[in-house]
This record gives sequence, structure tokens and C-alpha cells, in this order.
Amino acid sequence: MSKIINMLVGGALLAAIPVSTTNADGIDPGDVTDMLHAVMDSDRTIYTKMIVGRLVAEHKLITATENFEDDISAPLPAQMFRMGAEAVADRTDLFEYSLQSLWPINKPNAENQTELEKEGLAFVADNIGENFYGEEVIDDLKYFTAVYADVAVAEVCATCHNEHKDSPRTDFKVGDVMGGVVIRIPLDG
Ligand code: HEC
Repeated sequence: MSKIINMLVGGALLAAIPVSTTNADGIDPGDVTDMLHAVMDSDRTIYTKMIVGRLVAEHKLITATENFEDDISAPLPAQMFRMGAEAVADRTDLFEYSLQSLWPINKPNAENQTELEKEGLAFVADNIGENFYGEEVIDDLKYFTAVYADVAVAEVCATCHNEHKDSPRTDFKVGDVMGGVVIRIPLDG
């Protein structure tokens, strides 16, 4: 009987929202963060390849620098990522994301790290190839929080961070986990 009621509720929901492809049980929040991360990570990789790798490194048409406004240059991939995250925060409360690290160049970014975020960043650094998923309560609201490793895929990731005046760590090498992408979704209401 309860099965029939569930099916009816599911059918009613689908009928009410015809464009939805959600089943009656909803989508697993871990699948949602995996999907969001796939988009973010692909966009960042394409920017790095097509702009930084091609126009900056290969053809030397432009430069990419941290002070991109004064220098009239292209922003670094991490800065593009942060500006995107800020623009998303302005338009929706459905989720939030950021690029974080236990050894951050950008300190203000890391100031509000929660205990679960720190745990997740440590976990992805210690368990290569694995993601971290957990739940936390912030200001009485329950959140699903996922952390995805950010790896030094090229020599330049490690050297730029190692030589940066604000970097608290100077021994990064290729293949090291340098930080992580944190995605948070509110679970209630
Ligand atoms: C030319 C220098 C440079 C290169 C190359 C570079 N970064 Fe960064 N990275 C920065 C700077 C500067 C920031 C701080 C940006 C901000 O938020 O304003 C940063 C931020 C980050 C952060 C967020 C935590 C923090 O340190 O503030 C991570 C994680 C990160 N970079 C990983 C990488 C990875 C992985 C690569 C290679 C794919 C890479 N970086 C390449 C300069 C660089």
C-alpha cells in the first residue's frame, strides 16, 4: 500500500513538474556535487589549456598574472575559478563552492574553513584519487559537503606556489595534492 502511495506521489510530482527527470527518491547529493565538480573542473582545465597554455605559453600573445587588472593580462586559473564562485554566490543559495587549501596563498579564502572542510582537505591530501563526502551543521542549517582533490598536474603549479611570497608551503612537487574544491549544498528547505 505504501508503495502505491509513493508511486502516486512520485507520479504527481512528475506531472506537476513536467521538465523534471528526478525520480520520486530525488538525486543523491553526492551525485549532484560530482556533476557540479565535473563542470567546474572541465571549465578550469579548458581555460588553463586554451588560454594559459596556448595564448600565454605557446604563442606568447598575452601574459597571465596575479595582478591581472593593473598588468592588463589574463587572470590565473584559480582567480577565474574564484570569480566564478563569487558570481554563483550572488545568484543562488542552492549551493556554494570554493577552491581551498590547508596551505593557502589566499588567506582570506581559508579564514572561514569549517572543521569538516579541514577534515575533507586532509583526507583528499592523504588518500590520492578519493573524494570526501560529509554532513555538517552551520548556523542551525544542515549541509552536505563534498571535497575534491586539486592536484599539481604540471610543474608550474608547484613552482609558482613554492616561490609565491604568501605561500606557507614551499615543497610542492608534481602529483601532490595542493588543495581541494569544496562544494556545499543545504539539505533542509
Ligand atoms: C603563476 C602562479 C600560479 C600558478 C601557475 C598556479 N597557481 Fe594556484 N594560485 C596562485 C595564486 C596567486 C592563488 C591565489 C588566488 C586567489 O584566490 O586570489 C592560487 C590559488 C590556488 C589554490 C587555492 C588555495 C590558495 O592557495 O589560495 C589552489 C588549490 C591552487 N592555486 C592550486 C593550483 C594548481 C593545482 C595549479 C596548477 C594546475 C596552480 N595552482 C597553478 C598562483 C598560481
